Amino acid sequence: MGFPLLLIRTILLTLLFSLIQSRSYTSSANIKLPGDSLILSVADFGATGDGINYDTSAIQSTIDACNRHYTSSSSICRVTFPSGTYLTAKLHLRSGVVLDVTENAVILGGPRMEDYPAETSLDWYVVVANNATDVGITGGGVIDGQGSKFVVRFDEKKNVMVSWNQTGACLGDECRPRLVGFVDSRSVEIWNITLREPAYWCLDIVRCENTSVHDISILGDFNTPNNDGIDIEDSNNTVITRCHIDTGDDAICPKTYTGPLYNLTATDCWIRTKSSAIKLGSASWYDFKGLVFDNITIFESHRGLGMQIRDGGNVSDITFSNMNISTRYYDPSWWGRAEPIYITSCPRDSSAKEGSISNLLFVNITINSENGVFLSGSPNGLLSNINFKNMNITLRRWSNYSAGLVDYRPGCQGLVNHSATSGIIMEHVNGFRVENVDLKWSDDDLNSAWNVPLEFRPSTVNNVSFLGFNSGLLHELV
Ligand SMILES: *[C@@H]1O[C@H](CO)[C@@H](O)[C@H](O)[C@H]1NC(C)=O
Ligand SMILES: *[C@@H]1O[C@H](CO)[C@@H](O)[C@H](O)[C@H]1NC(C)=O
Ligand SMILES: *[C@@H]1O[C@H](CO)[C@@H](O)[C@H](O)[C@H]1NC(C)=O
Ligand SMILES: *[C@@H]1O[C@H](CO)[C@@H](O)[C@H](O)[C@H]1NC(C)=O
Ligand SMILES: *[C@@H]1O[C@H](CO)[C@@H](O)[C@H](O)[C@H]1NC(C)=O
Ligand SMILES: *[C@@H]1O[C@H](CO)[C@@H](O)[C@H](O)[C@H]1NC(C)=O
Ligand SMILES: *[C@@H]1O[C@H](CO)[C@@H](O)[C@H](O)[C@H]1NC(C)=O
Ligand SMILES: *[C@@H]1O[C@H](CO)[C@@H](O)[C@H](O)[C@H]1NC(C)=O
Ligand SMILES: *[C@@H]1O[C@H](CO)[C@@H](O)[C@H](O)[C@H]1NC(C)=O
Ligand SMILES: *[C@@H]1O[C@H](CO)[C@@H](O)[C@H](O)[C@H]1NC(C)=O
Ligand SMILES: *[C@@H]1O[C@H](CO)[C@@H](O)[C@H](O)[C@H]1NC(C)=O
Ligand SMILES: *[C@@H]1O[C@H](CO)[C@@H](O)[C@H](O)[C@H]1NC(C)=O
Repeated sequence: MGFPLLLIRTILLTLLFSLIQSRSYTSSANIKLPGDSLILSVADFGATGDGINYDTSAIQSTIDACNRHYTSSSSICRVTFPSGTYLTAKLHLRSGVVLDVTENAVILGGPRMEDYPAETSLDWYVVVANNATDVGITGGGVIDGQGSKFVVRFDEKKNVMVSWNQTGACLGDECRPRLVGFVDSRSVEIWNITLREPAYWCLDIVRCENTSVHDISILGDFNTPNNDGIDIEDSNNTVITRCHIDTGDDAICPKTYTGPLYNLTATDCWIRTKSSAIKLGSASWYDFKGLVFDNITIFESHRGLGMQIRDGGNVSDITFSNMNISTRYYDPSWWGRAEPIYITSCPRDSSAKEGSISNLLFVNITINSENGVFLSGSPNGLLSNINFKNMNITLRRWSNYSAGLVDYRPGCQGLVNHSATSGIIMEHVNGFRVENVDLKWSDDDLNSAWNVPLEFRPSTVNNVSFLGFNSGLLHELV
């Protein structure tokens, strides 16, 4: 990548939330200052870097030695990986340690189930930090999960994956190791690194405080289910900036399982995925509040901006600004029907609660999509105060998309036939303000089911205001 450090620090300082203690930056930047920090090389602890022999214990010993120098007032210690390929089983990252995977180094996750001893069920990661402070990963190199070795059958629509469910720890085909995890940790920084080919989710931030992720690339497989980019669960004060994510499943995906999620900012990213580029949920047992997504390009993804609120958590104060979104339809085996914006709250099943969604702002957004916008609340989980401002939406089909089906999955009503395809569908909305929005319909598609600009029933939709809304054909008929 090679971003000038000074530039990165300048940009970071101007971010809305300047989170990581300056001490961490200082020590990262001036890591070689005598007496201020320590660098330990995995080679000195016996790692071969030959890509054939497991280097697990050598790497773990280096991390543990680094960690022994950590006190809450000391600077960080780097574990450096010289050029080479380091095959490893699960590694535990610890407080005060930054993995420095240098430009020609690759950490290769083992493909065997025994490589992932689990302390708790679903605790399978190639690299994981548990309950750590001042901890991170950098160096310009690669962490690779060998995801292709977990494919049972390659399929252009959707790969069939191996399942390690023999232990009973998990069910179905979601039993695969994640790539990198930070769990119950504070002051986390992940930068200047490529995360490649995860077997399952890629970067998992769980119950963390003060996390900065910047200048990273995530390269998953376009056809692999659950190949999420960044999952942020139950965490506060997270900043993601300058990321490139090209993968199969949800690219930036905040979720709530055990507690709320506050203050997440994601800016300056490029995303392509066969699922949602940005998605809140579907795990949504607690609230989401104070999220900002700005300056993001979403390229030919199956869905653009999504919320699948299914479990009773409430969503509020979310901004999406300055985005170019193109969505296209790939295959019904993936959730999504090429919706550029998909905001839904419905109970997952008959025992689930209904969460509400309020105070959303979508501003300065250009859309080229195969389907319209879907805004669907539920009787006790209304969508309120939704704002669209300065948007150009062009609806045009270029795949074999067949119109009419509306996708409520997971759970809820499933796939429902609406016969038409609408520009904007609204259900259970109280307060929708549209200002300066242009909706264009492709004219090479007149015989298809494009026929309803705005679809709603007054019985479930209230307080709608349209100022400067224009709907028309992309090119005037002659
Ligand atoms: C987390 O680490 C701190 C020390 O940094 C320790 O006091 C605490 O017991 C640890 N918590 C858990 C759950 O392991
Ligand atoms: C990223 O890593 C490369 C290779 O190690 C290095 O040359 C460069 O300085 C690093 N950039 C930053 C911003 O740390
Ligand atoms: C593992 O998952 C597969 C695929 O869903 C299923 O057929 C099998 O019964 C599961 N086995 C166990 C032990 O859960
Ligand atoms: C995030 O903040 C909320 C509200 O203050 C708090 O309840 C929650 O425990 C915090 N989460 C973490 C992981 O610190
Ligand atoms: C997170 O960062 C803020 C601002 O620097 C600081 O006040 C807070 O103590 C940090 N939280 C943790 C858990 O380190
Ligand atoms: C979220 O950010 C706001 C505004 O900066 C701050 O007041 C609030 O304490 C933060 N919430 C948490 C849980 O850190
Ligand atoms: C938007 O993000 C791109 C990187 O995707 C960056 O090159 C550009 O400078 C950013 N624009 C602004 C206005 O920050
Ligand atoms: C969106 O496209 C316009 C026109 O090509 C460009 O000026 C703008 O920078 C793009 N914004 C993003 C976030 O990619
Ligand atoms: C969501 O809001 C409703 C109404 O205020 C409240 O009853 C419910 O407890 C909230 N959900 C959560 C997870 O806090
Ligand atoms: C929408 O299109 C108009 C007319 O071409 C242009 O002036 C405006 O900047 C565009 N807005 C966005 C958000 O792309
Ligand atoms: C939206 O775009 C306009 C015109 O480019 C700009 O003045 C405004 O600051 C932008 N709004 C946001 C929230 O970025
Ligand atoms: C659309 O379907 C036709 C007939 O099944 C097929 O020949 C064509 O390749 C398909 N096009 C796309 C873009 O999938």
